[in-house]
Amino acid sequence: MNYHDPTLTRNWDNLKKHHKKIKDSKLKDFFKDQNRFNDLSWSANGLTVDLSKNFINLDTLGILYDFAKEIDLESFRSNFFSGEKINNTEDRPALFHALRDRSSRAYFVDEEDISLKIKKALDKIIHFSNNLHSNTFLGLTGKPIKQIVNIGIGGSKLGPQAMLTALEDFKNDNVKVDFISEINTQTINNLLNNCDPEATIFFICSKSFTTKETIYISRIVKSWIKSNLGKNSLRKHLFAVTSNSSEAIKFGVDEENIFPIWDWVNGRFSLWSSIGISIALGCSSKVFEEILYGAFLMDRHFENKPLQENLPVVMGLADFWNVSFLNYDSFVILPYEYKLRNIPDHLQQLVMESNGKGVLKTGESVKTGTSPLVFGCSGIESQHSFMQLLHQSPKSVHSEIILSMDPTDMAQDHIVASALAQSSILMSGSGAYIVPSAEKDKSSLSHQYCRGNRSNSIILLDKLSPTIVGSLFALFELRTCVQGFLWGINSFDQWGVELGKNLMANLLDNSESTYHNNCIDSSTISIWKKYLKNKANNNEN
Ligand code: F6P
Repeated sequence: MNYHDPTLTRNWDNLKKHHKKIKDSKLKDFFKDQNRFNDLSWSANGLTVDLSKNFINLDTLGILYDFAKEIDLESFRSNFFSGEKINNTEDRPALFHALRDRSSRAYFVDEEDISLKIKKALDKIIHFSNNLHSNTFLGLTGKPIKQIVNIGIGGSKLGPQAMLTALEDFKNDNVKVDFISEINTQTINNLLNNCDPEATIFFICSKSFTTKETIYISRIVKSWIKSNLGKNSLRKHLFAVTSNSSEAIKFGVDEENIFPIWDWVNGRFSLWSSIGISIALGCSSKVFEEILYGAFLMDRHFENKPLQENLPVVMGLADFWNVSFLNYDSFVILPYEYKLRNIPDHLQQLVMESNGKGVLKTGESVKTGTSPLVFGCSGIESQHSFMQLLHQSPKSVHSEIILSMDPTDMAQDHIVASALAQSSILMSGSGAYIVPSAEKDKSSLSHQYCRGNRSNSIILLDKLSPTIVGSLFALFELRTCVQGFLWGINSFDQWGVELGKNLMANLLDNSESTYHNNCIDSSTISIWKKYLKNKANNNEN
């Protein structure tokens, strides 16, 4: 079900013909059409998406909608919501959206109703967070908890961290949240030196409870808690979010202190589960429920709106066109709203781990590009680092500018004007603007020339409320799922990251036969041995 190769469809050929027809046009010429902004921008749930500066016209969109119909995007959408096992390589559904369903709809996995489990887990988060904020839950020695440490990596950190930063205005002033994923000793020590053991609790966030980095840090933290507060302190200071509760219990986490997650929630889509508990603890359970509600609204929008009015669909189709026909193999994410500065890190994982795939769902090689390379940083910062390349290099990078209309920041006019100026120039190039020095010195003209014709999109938030930010994060997720479906790939596995984990273990084995049996190349073995020799020498001295 839902298996296809996009390049073998009728509309792939239509898109190719259409591309041939318009490829020599200039983006700025598209703007002769006075209705362009109205035709190519969409609003829903406090978000406006402007694709008018993408290399797209209404004919392009028409064929893209036909393509979506031809490959039956609508049935993908209904299978996704009804919990079909669309993650075919792991034989699982992708039901992260069920975590934020605020209706009474029931969800089933292998005939088991999971709705009750989801509700129980959410109630546990709400209850714990309310208890902590009201000082009903106290540390072992009776001190209120002032610091939460999230030990986790990848999706067990990036989504919650990006969300929590976005909601800075809603933070609980009495509780500080730290995230740790790096295993270097100095980082761990720096963190622990700044924690009051009596007033800090640690959450080991690991769906698998096998992630090396997370477990390594957790071991150090566990002995730090014990050495500061004594043997019985773990029950008050060590918690886990995992689907592998037996390992967590073996590790020393009290069964009561385990918050669940399930295998039908992929790490990069997991901030709506107990993995997002740092959001409830760092803000409040009410804020956590509001982001769930915002995401729920976006799910309903995706599920019910016709393709032509549907934000995740329209954006996913534009991405498909940008990558597969216009060869935009890099997307830069530029949040001009500073509080959204961690979104690029989250999207790197979300998009590239989901859609950085080389085979179709059938296992055959893809014949078109899949996930773009995603990078980015605060838009204001980027203007003084890599923005130069975006304007003048022959490389074409698609830019995505994220802005908030909230006028509460003193510098907001400056920020918005700055973002719009970049967006406009990326689209039209320097031709439309007079560069004063160029008037005087014609020889410098070519050096000042900005190419323009660079596709860029704007996402505008009415304001940074938890509901709207929840909708925004859900939009990114759903759009990523749409992209994957259009390319005919499975967005919900990540086999590519598994090999590295195994090879690392093989090296740590320090055995010639392991190296040999695993066919480890000579460069890798030589450098590993050189490192070990150097370590041995250092130890001798
Ligand atoms: O190695 C990649 C990955 O599996 C991600 O998909 C995941 O978000 C991350 O590691 C952390 O995994 P876990 O929550 O199981 O520790």
